[in-house]
Amino acid sequence: MRGSGLLADRFGRVATDLRVSLTDRCNLRCTYCMPEEGLAWMPREQQLSDEEVGRLIRIAVERLGVTEVRFTGGEPLIRRGLVGIVAAAAALRPRPKLSITTNGIGLERLAGPLRDAGLGRVNVSLDTLSPARFEQLTHRDRHADVLKGLAGAAAAGLTPVKINTVLMRGINDDEAPGLLRFALDHGYQLRFIEQMPLDAQHRWERREMVTAAAILEALEPFGLQADPVSRGTAPAETWLVPGYLDAAGNPARVGVIGSVTRPFCGDCDRTRLTADGQVRNCLFATGETDLRGLVRGNASDDEIADAWRAAMWGKRAGHGIDDPSFLQPSRPMSAIGG
Ligand code: 5AD
Ligand code: SF4
Repeated sequence: MRGSGLLADRFGRVATDLRVSLTDRCNLRCTYCMPEEGLAWMPREQQLSDEEVGRLIRIAVERLGVTEVRFTGGEPLIRRGLVGIVAAAAALRPRPKLSITTNGIGLERLAGPLRDAGLGRVNVSLDTLSPARFEQLTHRDRHADVLKGLAGAAAAGLTPVKINTVLMRGINDDEAPGLLRFALDHGYQLRFIEQMPLDAQHRWERREMVTAAAILEALEPFGLQADPVSRGTAPAETWLVPGYLDAAGNPARVGVIGSVTRPFCGDCDRTRLTADGQVRNCLFATGETDLRGLVRGNASDDEIADAWRAAMWGKRAGHGIDDPSFLQPSRPMSAIGG
């Protein structure tokens, strides 16, 4: 496959889904992500400009076969040029599918402009229905803003609106049924994500993690049914929730992303670009490929595309969280992009 022009690797996978982190900063401090005092943010001059990030997305779409672009952070909504970056990506041909992963703060105001720019969908992170618990979990009193952001996204037609939830033992693991009911009542599609070792504080402990199996057990009262639709390369395993319809009138679904206990690395179709222009071939990669240096060094589109292909060719078979030799990447999730 090497030389095909696509982002192929040695294990036969081809990356068509590009995750672009637009900033490492965030207006929340989720405990499983960063410390309350924040992190040493990336210096501005290291961050790709709107034009630079636009050029790399163009190369990915035009030359490397990328068909989906998801914007992440940190918190992508705080990136000033966001709407323009989305519009530039939407103008590419073949037109990529565009989505964003956000904490929802500011989405109430930005949902309309983002839809007009060509955004298709959003994933909003929400780990609790309790404002007080939200403040404990994120160190900010912004629960109401997230709910307004969700409603704004649905009103703007950025559907299906998906919610990402991370459960933590003894903190919010009693909320699985409540969060699912909330999502079903509002026509949002909920997905639980197993907590991964990507926190800046390196506090993750496997035995503290709420597993996919435990989540499904907590959802037993809903009588979930196997989803007849194949999951394809999607990381979420989905189930139908009998008795509920989603906003489009289809049977409602709930997803569980068992990143740790049910890894899906064999089907991975992702490639990642950090806000400072580094390609990562995996969330858990320990190495990166510097495209910013090429961009700023007057490299041609062909040279950049070749470097990106080489970066992906070196992708490992899996994340190896269960290997004794597993090393957590030195970049935290907020600086990689989810
Ligand atoms: N493990 C699992 N999910 C995480 N997220 C952030 N940090 C982690 C982690 N350590 C989630 C956020 C958001 C998405 C980007 O990833 O809650 O929904
Ligand atoms: Fe911000 Fe997302 Fe990290 Fe929470 S998980 S602090 S919303 S980047």
